[in-house]
Amino acid sequence: MSANSIDSLQHEGRHFPPSDSFVSTAVASPDLYDQANRDRLGFWADRSRELLHWHTPFTEVLDWSDAPFARWFADGELNVAYNCLDRHVLAGNGDRVAINWEGEPGDSRTLTYSELTAEVKRAANLLIKLGIGTGDTVAIYLPNVPEAVIAMLAVVRIGAIHSVVFGGFSAESLRSRIDDAQAKLVITADGGWRKGKVSPLKPAVDGALALDKGTPLSVEHVLVLKRGDNDIDWVEGRDLWWHDEIETVGSEHEAVGFPAETPLFILYTSGTTGKPKGIIHTTGGYLTQVTFTHKNVFDLNPEKDVYWCSADVGWITGHSYTVYGPLSNGATSVLYEGTPDSPHPGRWFEIIEKYGVSIFYTAPTAIRSFMKVGRQVPDAFDLSSIRLLGSVGEPINPEAWMWYREVVGAGTAPIVDTWWQTETGAIMVSALPGITSLKPGSAQVALPGISISVLDETGVAVEPGSGGLLAITEPWPSMLRGIWGDPERFVETYWSKFRDAFDTPVYFAGDGARLDADGDLWLLGRVDDVMNVSGHRLSTAEIESALVSHPIVAESAVVGAADEATGQAVVAFVVLRSEHAGDQTVDEASVLLRGHVTEQIGAIARPRQVFIVEELPKTRSGKIMRRLLQDVAEGRAIGDTTTLADASVMQLIADRYKK
Ligand code: WTA
Repeated sequence: MSANSIDSLQHEGRHFPPSDSFVSTAVASPDLYDQANRDRLGFWADRSRELLHWHTPFTEVLDWSDAPFARWFADGELNVAYNCLDRHVLAGNGDRVAINWEGEPGDSRTLTYSELTAEVKRAANLLIKLGIGTGDTVAIYLPNVPEAVIAMLAVVRIGAIHSVVFGGFSAESLRSRIDDAQAKLVITADGGWRKGKVSPLKPAVDGALALDKGTPLSVEHVLVLKRGDNDIDWVEGRDLWWHDEIETVGSEHEAVGFPAETPLFILYTSGTTGKPKGIIHTTGGYLTQVTFTHKNVFDLNPEKDVYWCSADVGWITGHSYTVYGPLSNGATSVLYEGTPDSPHPGRWFEIIEKYGVSIFYTAPTAIRSFMKVGRQVPDAFDLSSIRLLGSVGEPINPEAWMWYREVVGAGTAPIVDTWWQTETGAIMVSALPGITSLKPGSAQVALPGISISVLDETGVAVEPGSGGLLAITEPWPSMLRGIWGDPERFVETYWSKFRDAFDTPVYFAGDGARLDADGDLWLLGRVDDVMNVSGHRLSTAEIESALVSHPIVAESAVVGAADEATGQAVVAFVVLRSEHAGDQTVDEASVLLRGHVTEQIGAIARPRQVFIVEELPKTRSGKIMRRLLQDVAEGRAIGDTTTLADASVMQLIADRYKK
């Protein structure tokens, strides 16, 4: 093993080949891999022509001469909204449901492809009336309601650029994103429903726009959707009600084609430090890969399936797999406004039962929170419509994978563990159901047309069985095209660590990964989180998995804390499953779990300490913030908690374990 690689200590040997019945009807066929291996660019060009409507066909596939600045399908023209809407209506599918929307208080709304198309045309006309044109940016700060989708599609329909800001972000964060993108219009709502009450949005917009940043404000208008019915302030002339304005415009709008490298959206990744990066995606390549992956990874049959991705539209998963992928494929989706446990812990399962969801895509953090409350909650609902499950956002540890399959997937549904990033735009690594023999906890293989390697620090590919750094070695259609306004940071952050044999930059993803003997990938977490214990580089993900494999544990986070003897020592934070919370004292549980990790992995990984906590600190998109836990483990004052979904969680932990 190379000295620069990440040591891997996990042993997981279960395999689940697809059932014969799944294989016989599967959407993806094994020859996709052969085609892509023979001719990668030809493969993507074929997919793009077959899956999308091009107003002007492209003749060029990829221009990589200015690497890492890529141009895909650059001389072609298309309209993303036309691909997501009009073409389905023209094909005779206007009566198919596009969105089954469920509000948190229990109200609901169904939009067919015809209805959604009509709404988007009107909204496009309204944007034009408000002075928005090609290349302008529009900030969208809305709850998970149909108008969020309508607004996004209306913006792209006219060749403008959206920047969706998740409704949980503060006035300050919203303002920095508005300024960075120079948004001319903000589309928001009075408020939206979260956790059983109206959570106000318009006041945050008012606050954001009132901040004195010493620079002229780019925003001319604020378009306000009435949703929460909460009292709000009003700035005459600037603020406009959506329902009033939409009445003033016509319903006809013809979608024209725009060049394939027209920016589609900017999406800010918060990261753990520094100024958020405005990740830029463009139209043709993005829509090609998103449409292809949504169809093949999720085995989508648009005429029959009911698909639900639980991600908020404010995240990349919401962009690619709640909005663009499903609509481009003409799928029927569910869109839910609220939180998983409002008004009761079974709300998501109730929605699956109500709409007969057949394909369900969510994050490990949600799965583990359901493990914490116990299987009696999902067991109270009829989940028999489910035939495929997906996971994204973090490594899914094998025990959570097994639980998901047993409890939500009736022990039979294939699970696709999909690895990708805001930057990659679409899924990059995943099983293809019906082809791949599944391994719990492994994201498995690069998709057809995608080239992934695991490299050591010096850029040499690691041997099977070892861990290293995940790199993407060839450009891909939905790749980020840059960081808004900061090309140097783009090159520096993603393309400066490795170069290939032709001296072309290689994309470094920032994640650790292990390649097993079969060539399957196991994600090991962010490289920044890797620990060094007695000279061994250990990944957080594997030790966390070992902890979660104990029946009393629902969730865990592991950090490296400075240690005189070993350099760093493993410190674990553990959330117990509700039904076991009172079984042992805290000290007993700690002894039990330290012993369990020793058994599962070895003494090298045994936690120096195990802290039992009620909840783990997470970002608004559900990622554990290990940096803050490290502050506690090292006895420091806790650092910046502004990116946490709930800062009180961290305060509780700090109070309990203060030295
Ligand atoms: C992590 C979300 C393991 C990873 C689409 C990545 C995963 C970051 C997986 C991107 C997975 C995402 N297994 N880790 N299946 N999917 N990640 O930008 O660390 O919110 O770099 O995009 O999430 O997070 P982002």
